[in-house]
Amino acid sequence: MNRTDYQAIIKPFLSKKRYEHSICVCDEAVHLARVYDANEQKAETAGILHDIMKDVPPDEQLKMMMRYDILLTDVERSAQKLWHAMLGAAYIENELHISDPEILNAVRYHTTGRAEMTTMDKILFVADFISADRDYAGVEQLRKSAVVSLDQAVADGIVFTIQDLVQAGRPIHPDTIAAYNHAILNLNQN
Ligand SMILES: [Fe+2]
Ligand SMILES: [Fe+2]
Repeated sequence: MNRTDYQAIIKPFLSKKRYEHSICVCDEAVHLARVYDANEQKAETAGILHDIMKDVPPDEQLKMMMRYDILLTDVERSAQKLWHAMLGAAYIENELHISDPEILNAVRYHTTGRAEMTTMDKILFVADFISADRDYAGVEQLRKSAVVSLDQAVADGIVFTIQDLVQAGRPIHPDTIAAYNHAILNLNQN
């Protein structure tokens, strides 16, 4: 399947805004893959599909997760924003028959990050932050830093995520803490 096929698949699942966001993330992921010498086709597939489950109603997402034997921790249950990433990876594996672990993991960890992120994980995580549809304060700076150091951009994105969660009084997923520690230790070493 190619990009056109995947675009047709995601369209009925998503609001117009989220569909356009998915296209923008796809374009940005391909751009970053080119910059960092990663597989552009995998970045394209991960980018276009990453939010496929995001607009599915929460109760339906829970039902689907049960169908795919996804067990939620307390933190995951409390953070609905994380569901679409876990469910999205299971959906594209089971229903779209994508078996490439680089694509599946990039989708699975695009919201939380994780320790030992692969280049594809980093590309999708950062593309989701700096895609053309994003307009939050500081996005221009992050766009600039993303083409200089992917690791720095990941660290900045993780810090942004953690600050956001703390300010909102929400729990932080252990994978996000692990991603933070890993990113900081890694940057300090280099
Ligand atoms: Fe997402
Ligand atoms: Fe997204």
